[in-house]
Amino acid sequence: MNAPDPLATRPMPHVLNTYGRLPIALDHGRGCWVWDTQGKRYLDGLAGIAVNTLGHAHPRLVPALQQQIGKLIHSSNYYEVPLQEQLAAKLCEISGLAGAFFCSTGLEANEAALKIARKVGHDKGIERPEIVVYEGAFHGRSIATLSATANPKIQAGFGPLVEGFVRVPRNDIAALEAVAARHPNVVAVFLETIQGEGGIHPSQVPYLQQLRALCDRQGWLLMLDEVQCGIGRTGKWFAHQWAGIQPDVMPLAKGLGSGVPIGAVVCGPKAVNVLGPGNHGTTFGGNPLAMRAGVETLRIMEEDGLLDNAARVGGQLMADLKRGLEGVTGVVEVRGQGLMIGIELDRPCGVILQRAADAGLMLSVTADRVIRLVPALILSGDEARQIAGILVPLVRRFLAEP
Ligand SMILES: Cc1ncc(COP(=O)(O)O)c(C=O)c1O
Repeated sequence: MNAPDPLATRPMPHVLNTYGRLPIALDHGRGCWVWDTQGKRYLDGLAGIAVNTLGHAHPRLVPALQQQIGKLIHSSNYYEVPLQEQLAAKLCEISGLAGAFFCSTGLEANEAALKIARKVGHDKGIERPEIVVYEGAFHGRSIATLSATANPKIQAGFGPLVEGFVRVPRNDIAALEAVAARHPNVVAVFLETIQGEGGIHPSQVPYLQQLRALCDRQGWLLMLDEVQCGIGRTGKWFAHQWAGIQPDVMPLAKGLGSGVPIGAVVCGPKAVNVLGPGNHGTTFGGNPLAMRAGVETLRIMEEDGLLDNAARVGGQLMADLKRGLEGVTGVVEVRGQGLMIGIELDRPCGVILQRAADAGLMLSVTADRVIRLVPALILSGDEARQIAGILVPLVRRFLAEP
């Protein structure tokens, strides 16, 4: 008789079966380490999918959140929320942009961006505005954001999709110029500065610079989805800052609250006054607990030099992985920036997830064949060495299998 497949068990029969989960239940964490309910310890290379910026149970974040919970968790957008102004002002300071709208997730931030783009079109008299999106893109799983997403598996079964998207290849300015010539109703270009779910694909710096210039020439909004790659992950506050450009609209989420649900769409001068009272809103968006989490996350990142840490430790981890996997047949590329790293293999590698967990390492596999590391920005050089020390032999063994 075959042994039961642990992946086939369903320990949560009352929860909808929307995720392919590993049979591991995490109990608690500290720094870059997590423990499961059986007491096994893991080095966390995933950080809740690029969410736990400050790691787990951060000694300065936890008391601040406890204090906020004791004071006010939620009020309502019927009233002023001073912490919203505090976080919005900080986001404007570090991005150079002009104002922010708050929500609770990445897809909501992207929905707000899409609504801003369409409203700009309507304000110009364009009744059927179009938005340029990219091959390999992932923007979320609401009907509009899954329509902007490029993955047919994510769209299957949910048609009809939202219309008004024009899709182009990554890093190809000629393709965008062709769109400019043929699509007079385009109002915005919408892309992840570094594609995350699509397999860690960075936009090239010259491409971003040409894109900015093209958007200016065409009167298009440049909307950069930094939900995954923003908030210090690449070693600058926002990944596009490596290209010395600014977007008009920037959706954020994931790492902004270090684990507390939060989203934001940060707008430059061309977008900041597009929406007015009654155009958009959400019950939870901007509540005091989420805002406090955002304020404290950015404060601690600054106080502890976490941008530099992400650049330095990420660079070291990337170098260790490249060295360890150099010349190994089946490794296509090791790429990324800062603490957003992908190892692309020439074959599907979903099984690595369980094997890494068995070896005491949390990570993810995205786009079927890309091993993704997006650890907390507090990762130490020693922890980075331990990640490479577990992962390199694991990948080598996997690729050596017949
Ligand atoms: C670039 C990007 N945009 C949007 C989203 C959607 O965010 P959420 O899952 O919070 O809705 C994600 C999530 O992975 C993402 O990586």
